[in-house]
Amino acid sequence: MAVVVAMGIAVWQAPAAAASVPLKNITNRYVGSAVAATYLASESDYRAVLTREFDNVTPENEMKWGTVEAVRGQYDWSGADAIVRYAQRTHKTVRGHTLVWHSQLPDWVAALPADELRGVLRDHITTEVKRYKGKIRAWDVVNEIFNEDGTRRDTVFRQKLGDGFVADVFRWAHAADPGAKLYLNDYNIEGVNPKSDAVYDLVKTLRRQGVPIDGVGIQGHLSIQYGFPGEYRANLARFARIGVETAVTEADVRIPTPPDPAKLATQASYFGQLWDGCHAVSRCVEFTTWGFTDRHSWVPDVFPGEGAACLFDENLHPKPAYYRLNP
Ligand code: XIL
Repeated sequence: MAVVVAMGIAVWQAPAAAASVPLKNITNRYVGSAVAATYLASESDYRAVLTREFDNVTPENEMKWGTVEAVRGQYDWSGADAIVRYAQRTHKTVRGHTLVWHSQLPDWVAALPADELRGVLRDHITTEVKRYKGKIRAWDVVNEIFNEDGTRRDTVFRQKLGDGFVADVFRWAHAADPGAKLYLNDYNIEGVNPKSDAVYDLVKTLRRQGVPIDGVGIQGHLSIQYGFPGEYRANLARFARIGVETAVTEADVRIPTPPDPAKLATQASYFGQLWDGCHAVSRCVEFTTWGFTDRHSWVPDVFPGEGAACLFDENLHPKPAYYRLNP
């Protein structure tokens, strides 16, 4: 990495190309990024960096219910198909995201009466998982089902089907593709806290009941404003001890804009701790970032005043965080 001093201020200058060895080749973990089908099709520089650096892709929106069946009975698999085809062509694995989520859920689903919702949910899972059978390494089966205090989030699924819907959806997904690893995915469960305690207890219970759950996805949406989550490694390790995989599924580290060298250094440290912890703990099998370039990150849209959360800047130059992972 080159640092030049201009007008007495150290300015970090990225070379145009990434490090000589791509990120995916320096680790035995899957290294992924969320990807958007539109940019994959329209931006060759975006596609080139993705292809070179990563060996897993997660569709950012293309497999969500609101995308694949916004109108009942009218399916749109175009984006999901394109990403899966790209992954097969470039020898990458796919993390399917996500089958059951209260967000980006079509209104028609939320409006269904309980008896009908159950059948529709089973059909949704069966249809989507079977469509990509054998092509998805791991599915985020349920997404964000807990509140911060460890109670269950009161979604339409819970209200109408009861907490037992979670065991059901894992069984349905497993029946549709017995080869795919099935995950529960959530945010703010990097460290040990009431929410990750609740995830831990539920996973332990489900395993004891013989429910086919293979892993816990730790999203990894961090901000340099809030400190690095405590007991991250201990948290990963306790999941390994109950026999499930973990994966960092959506890592990004937000910065209050504008970024400066000090903030970028803190960001690099956070990314580094996420990465090192995953490598230090057995059965943490994947490190996926939620997009790889600040050009297309979801962060500025959702967190006003924050941004620059990715490993590469808008011009696809690697940032200090990238070099922290791949020195
Ligand atoms: C986000 C996408 O990045 C945005 O494009 C979309 O508008 C909203 O959803 N946790 C998740 C992801 O599990 O699905 C979310 O993705 C980010 C938070």
